[in-house]
Order: sequence, then C-alpha cells, then structure tokens
Amino acid sequence: MKLSLTTAQPEKNHKLCVIAGVFTDGLTPAAKSLDEESKGFISRLIKQGALDGKIGQVLPLFHLPNTKYDQILLIGCGSQKSVSPSSYRKAVSAAVKALTANKITEAVSYLTELDVASQSAAWKVKHHAEVIGDSIYCFDMFKSTKQEAPVFKKFDIFVPDSKQIKACETALKQGQAIGNGVALTKNLGNLPSNICTPSFLADKAKAVGKSFSSLSVKVLGEKEMDKLGMGALLGVSQGSAQEAQFIIMEYQGGKKNEAPVALVGKGITFDTGGNSLKPADSMVGMKYDMCGAATVIGTIHAAAELKLPVNIVGLIPAVENMPGGTAYKPEDILTSMSGQTIEVISTDAEGRLVLADALTYAERFKPDVVIDIATLTGAVVIALGYHATGLVTNYDPLAKDLLTAGEESFDRAWQLPMWEEFDEQLKSPFADMANTGGRTGGTITAGCFLSRFAKKFHWAHLDVAGTAAMMGGTSERRATGRPVPMLVQYLINRAG
Ligand code: BES
Ligand code: MN
Ligand code: ZN
Repeated sequence: MKLSLTTAQPEKNHKLCVIAGVFTDGLTPAAKSLDEESKGFISRLIKQGALDGKIGQVLPLFHLPNTKYDQILLIGCGSQKSVSPSSYRKAVSAAVKALTANKITEAVSYLTELDVASQSAAWKVKHHAEVIGDSIYCFDMFKSTKQEAPVFKKFDIFVPDSKQIKACETALKQGQAIGNGVALTKNLGNLPSNICTPSFLADKAKAVGKSFSSLSVKVLGEKEMDKLGMGALLGVSQGSAQEAQFIIMEYQGGKKNEAPVALVGKGITFDTGGNSLKPADSMVGMKYDMCGAATVIGTIHAAAELKLPVNIVGLIPAVENMPGGTAYKPEDILTSMSGQTIEVISTDAEGRLVLADALTYAERFKPDVVIDIATLTGAVVIALGYHATGLVTNYDPLAKDLLTAGEESFDRAWQLPMWEEFDEQLKSPFADMANTGGRTGGTITAGCFLSRFAKKFHWAHLDVAGTAAMMGGTSERRATGRPVPMLVQYLINRAG
C-alpha cells in the first residue's frame, strides 16, 4: 500500500475514489464541490435522509450523476463547529473500513479539510496516516477463515495548505512509522503465552535488531542474571518452566557520548498471579501482561525507521509468573540487584519485582531519563478507566514532556501524586520493604515501590494496565498498541 500526499482538488482526482466529509450542519469544501458538479445531487440525498452527517456514517456512491466520478465515499463528520481529535480519527477510520468493505483499490481523502480543534495540516496528516494503519490492522493468524483483507493499493491524503507541504511530508512519515510500531506492538500483545514466551520475545527483539544497522540487541539468560544478583526478577521466574530472558536493545541515532533515553518494559508473558493465584475470571487477559515490553520494541522500531537523532536503550525483563512447588511464596524475602531486600506479600505483585532489577540495571547506561512502561495495577483501571495511562515520576519536567506528547499524539496520560504518605504503606517488619502497599492507592504505592530503585536518575512510570489492551468481554479483547504513539512523539519532540 502506497500512501502519498496531494494538493489537487477533487475534480483533478476523479479517477480515484474521492473521500469527502459531510457535517450534520453543512458540507466540507470537497463535498460542496462534488455537490455543485453534480447539480445538487448530494444536497438532495441529504434532504431525502440518505445520510445526516453523524460521526462515522458512510454513504458509498458509485457514479455521481453529471460528473466523471466513479466512486465517492461520503463520511459523516458530526457538527462542523466542533470536530474533536477523537471524532476526526473516527471519521478517518470509518472511511478506511469502507474502502475494504467496498473493495476500492485507489482513493484520495479530503478529510484533512476538517478543522480539528485548530490543529495544523501536519497534525491532520500524521493522524490520518496513523489511523489508516490502525484501521486495517487485523490479527487472524489463528483463524481458519481469514478476515477480508484491505485491497487498496494507493491512498492519497489531501494537504489543505500547500505552504505546509514540507511539514506534511514529515508528518506522513511519522504517522506511518507510528502505525508500523503500533501494529508490531499489537501483534506481540495479541499472541497467546504458549507462543509468546520469554525466549520468543527475545527472538523477536533480535529480529527487529537485525533489520536496522543502528540497532543492536543482546539477551541475558538466568545464569547471567544470577551473576548480576537479580534476585527479585529470578524470584518471580522461579516457578516457571520457561527460562527468564533479559533483553537489551541499543539504538544509536544520536552522538556516541550522548546520554540515552532508557525505556524499560514489563515483560510478564503470562501472569497467573503465582501462588497468590488470580481467580479464573481475572486471569483472562493476562497474556497482555507483556504489553510494556511490546511497547518498548514497537517504539524502538518506529524510532529506528524514522532515524531519530537520539540514543535509546530498551530493557525488557521477560518472565512468566506461575504458581507451584518451585514457585516463590508470600512472605519469602528476595534480595534485589540493588541490595535492597523485599518481603513478598503477594506473588501477584510481580511486575514491580522484575522492574526493580531492570531499573537497577539501567544505571550502567547513565541515562538522561528512564521511562518504564507496565501493565502494573488493576487499580489504575479503576482510577482512570481505559482512557488514560497513569503516570508517576520523581522529576516533574519529564512528566510535563510526556503529558504534552500524550496530548499531541492523542494517547494521553494523567499524573498521580507521589507523596511520602503513600510510600509509608510499603513498610515490612522483616525486610527493607514489602512488595504491596494494601488496597488503597494501589497505582501510587506501586509507583513508590519502583521509585526506590530509580534514585539515581530522572524517572517516570507509565501504568498502562487500562490502556495497552482491552480485556473486558471475552470477544472484545485486543491490544491497542498504546502508549507507542505517546512515546514516539516524546522522542520526536526530544529530537527537535
Ligand atoms: N498484571 C497485573 C495488573 C493488571 C490487572 C493488568 C488487570 C491488567 C488488568 C499485576 O501484576 C497485578 O496482578 N497487580 C495486582 C497488584 C496487587 C497484588 C498489589 C493488582 O492490581 O491486583
Ligand atoms: Mn500480577
Ligand atoms: Zn502482572
């Protein structure tokens, strides 16, 4: 599929399927010109109730009377007074899906004409490209009957302001790279844990490493982790038949001595809860407990594709959390790589244990900032729903940069406080700390736990338990690819 830009008006593009927006209270410029050319045909359709412009509505027209157009898709865009980023993305998605449904092979979209909360042409192009990737995504490798694949080969996006063509070209590349990163992250997330094991993740990371000369990937096994003293990580892995893997991805896009951004991703390939076993219903969805790891791989893929002038280190503790006779237990005491001891209260609070050692390992790269990404707590889903990623930090300027990148990419986060009162909930009578802080403020106490291993650098933690995947009803489960868009935007902004 080839995505490109065009500055030509609809009449010049009549050979392609023209995608034009219709409001509940008017027509977009493209729809207006089609209406004029067809002597009011579109206005008459609207009057007769064929469509009313509600968000995501689609009306395919084959042959527009009195014109040379063969194919037109009219797309409902809501009220022209208030097109939100979310409704813009919905309109684009509806158009892309209609192309597949109508077996259309070549199209040009004028949806960039919409005034989306005064966003720039480049913003609209970037999101358009990203949503195309998102909307054609399908995961049917385990289905005997495959879903209908998209047939379009050529897709042009209209640039509403020809002075911005340069910025739009960059935006198009970014949108596509984000789309590719998101798809990779979704694929890894959607794979079941009998296939996506720690060593499978390591092999995938190595394969991504092979496709970019700027990227090198190294993997440590349990023996090497034992030598490093990663007692917290190995404690979690103890009950599994799968060997834990510690994946190290180094992307060099910046100067050699420039301090890197470290991305640390929780890679629990399945979370049974361990001996603090999860109830059967809550265990469904736990193949997604490696989405933080998948995000690191997808983000680095996008950065490498865009050749961003930054240095990145990706660190992934990949571990399976199982119960059983050899597994760690509540009240066990683990010694982390940092030397701090941890009393296990719940073996289901395993993410913070593997992340603790990964954060300590990050110190050797002298990172400028460290960002961890983890499906860490059910509590964040209660606090922020499926809409926002939870963010805690020991360095507010980093929070600001991430929150801004989240707004720009429409992949948003919300900051939670890290007061010392929360940290006090982690007291243990026997070890330096407990691995849980009770039911209240669960996302924050988990953040406080991690912060004890992030003393030597600027650090932020993204709790993506609600945003990386939909785990609700049994048929609605799917990975979203979040927060790849936010992190790639953060890296783009850093690169300047
Ligand atoms: N992987 C889970 C968090 C999770 C829950 C992700 C729901 C996605 C959806 C994590 O390992 C976990 O079990 N957390 C516990 C922590 C508790 C024992 C302190 C939780 O949230 O219940
Ligand atoms: Mn758990
Ligand atoms: Zn978990």
